[in-house]
Amino acid sequence: MNRYLFICAGTVLLGVGGVVADGVLKSAQVCAAEEQVSFKGDIQPLLKWRCSGCHEGTGEGVQKSGLDLSNYAGLMKGTKFGRMVIPGDPESSNLMMLLDWRVAPAIRMPHGKKQLSSCDRDAIRTWIRQGAKDN
Ligand code: HEC
Repeated sequence: MNRYLFICAGTVLLGVGGVVADGVLKSAQVCAAEEQVSFKGDIQPLLKWRCSGCHEGTGEGVQKSGLDLSNYAGLMKGTKFGRMVIPGDPESSNLMMLLDWRVAPAIRMPHGKKQLSSCDRDAIRTWIRQGAKDN
């Protein structure tokens, strides 16, 4: 069930049209489908950029859900209702349901903003599948 490979297939096909085999590899890497994803290098900057406005300090997201996304411990702790990330299992992780907008509009994240790109979401998905490590 490597859904992310399909989502990114468009990019890879562009590489195929572009003749050079090397180009195919490079395009595939843009989506980091099978690369080791790093919390500090990939995930944290993304959360900082797209989520921390509401999920840090006294932000609206922290107040309503208890979810503090300013650091690894906060993300893994989850909301006052429970965990959002199940290490190794992105399909059961509520975080991915919210980010993929497979939930009611009111709790799609980021709340009231543009959806994360499929490659950004795939980076998070891959990171969870790789064990959601503090790496
Ligand atoms: C504009 C403000 C805002 C931004 C930006 C935002 N959130 Fe939220 N978030 C909220 C609010 C408000 C809630 C509480 C929703 C509710 O329960 O009604 C929430 C709740 C959540 C929840 C818990 C939902 C639940 O079922 O209880 C998760 C998980 C979450 N946000 C993740 C994220 C992630 C990841 C990002 C960045 C990609 C993000 N949010 C960006 C405002 C925001």
